[in-house]
Amino acid sequence: MVRLPALSIALAFFLASVSARRVPTSFVLVGDSTTANGTVVDSGGWGNGFCGSTNTSTPSSLAPGTPCINTAKNGATTGSFVADGSWNISLATVEAEIAKGRRTLVTIQFGHNDMKIAPPESMGANITIMVNQLRALGAEPVLVTSLTRRTFFDNGTIQDLLGPWADETILVSQQLGTHLLDLHANSITYCEAIGPDASHVLNRTPDDDTHLNSNGTIVFGRMLANLMNASFPHQLPIIPNPGLTFNITHGIASY
Ligand SMILES: *[C@@H]1O[C@H](CO)[C@@H](O)[C@H](O)[C@H]1NC(C)=O
Ligand SMILES: *[C@@H]1O[C@H](CO)[C@@H](O)[C@H](O)[C@H]1NC(C)=O
Ligand SMILES: *[C@@H]1O[C@H](CO)[C@@H](O)[C@H](O)[C@H]1NC(C)=O
Ligand SMILES: *[C@@H]1O[C@H](CO)[C@@H](O)[C@H](O)[C@H]1NC(C)=O
Ligand SMILES: *[C@@H]1O[C@H](CO)[C@@H](O)[C@H](O)[C@H]1NC(C)=O
Ligand SMILES: *[C@@H]1O[C@H](CO)[C@@H](O)[C@H](O)[C@H]1NC(C)=O
Ligand SMILES: *[C@@H]1O[C@H](CO)[C@@H](O)[C@H](O)[C@H]1NC(C)=O
Ligand SMILES: *[C@@H]1O[C@H](CO)[C@@H](O)[C@H](O)[C@H]1NC(C)=O
Repeated sequence: MVRLPALSIALAFFLASVSARRVPTSFVLVGDSTTANGTVVDSGGWGNGFCGSTNTSTPSSLAPGTPCINTAKNGATTGSFVADGSWNISLATVEAEIAKGRRTLVTIQFGHNDMKIAPPESMGANITIMVNQLRALGAEPVLVTSLTRRTFFDNGTIQDLLGPWADETILVSQQLGTHLLDLHANSITYCEAIGPDASHVLNRTPDDDTHLNSNGTIVFGRMLANLMNASFPHQLPIIPNPGLTFNITHGIASY
């Protein structure tokens, strides 16, 4: 008799966690070229490694049949993304997924180009508007800090210029209470662990420290998947890749 309530509470939690796992989820990606899918091999961001791409034979980090739509745009700042109509495409994509009854998570990652034109607060104000618009549609914004550039000092540390834009993204996530994936910090830790040579193997071209080749998108797409999974434990259709996850978490080069 005394144990029954505890048991039913445990059962309720179990059932809740099972049903949470069953909610069909869609992902929509928003950002610049370090997220963008590209349509050819070695064309840019972590999006293909996260969503998968038949064009580039990149395996997905998600369960088969999970919609994952990459609306990121090469060269985008938060301002240009809105002004050139890309953001309207993202919103229409989100609305379509929600209309299908799907839980819709939307990653937002900017900074690489915003840093060239304005102080971090400008990007932050624009991301704040994006978050509010997504929430009004019933979507769940997930803020992502910028993938690091793989440019090193001679002493083996990353020469980081994106820190203030990563910090701004973190600040906005705290102000608005969104999920946050700190790709910036995690990618710096990993690249410093594997060192410059192994980091540059992931470059789109040897001297392009910003964009990713097909191996780079697999590595950083998995890093994103792991951060996403940690932020939404037991809720999302993310499939494991234990070998690559081991390498990432232990600072081991995979390629
Ligand atoms: C594959 O290529 C086609 C045509 O270039 C493009 O429309 C589509 O978005 C690409 N898909 C991916 C996942 O890159
Ligand atoms: C790839 O990116 C293009 C351009 O943003 C977009 O039209 C297309 O839907 C994307 N493909 C996938 C599979 O995400
Ligand atoms: C933010 O958006 C405004 C327009 O609302 C634009 O003037 C500004 O340049 C944008 N900031 C960045 C960093 O793109
Ligand atoms: C985006 O959609 C809004 C609402 O329909 C519209 O007012 C705005 O002009 C559109 N932006 C662009 C760049 O087309
Ligand atoms: C590495 O070198 C840079 C540039 O000289 C310097 O700013 C940084 O403090 C150094 N880091 C370490 C850990 O020595
Ligand atoms: C996701 O996180 C949960 C909780 O920590 C863990 O049990 C599971 O193995 C993770 N899944 C993946 C694909 O990493
Ligand atoms: C992990 O790293 C080892 C050593 O570099 C490599 O042989 C292996 O293929 C990597 N595993 C994955 C799944 O990338
Ligand atoms: C990716 O890694 C594989 C295995 O090491 C290698 O054969 C291939 O050339 C690499 N691709 C690129 C674009 O570097």
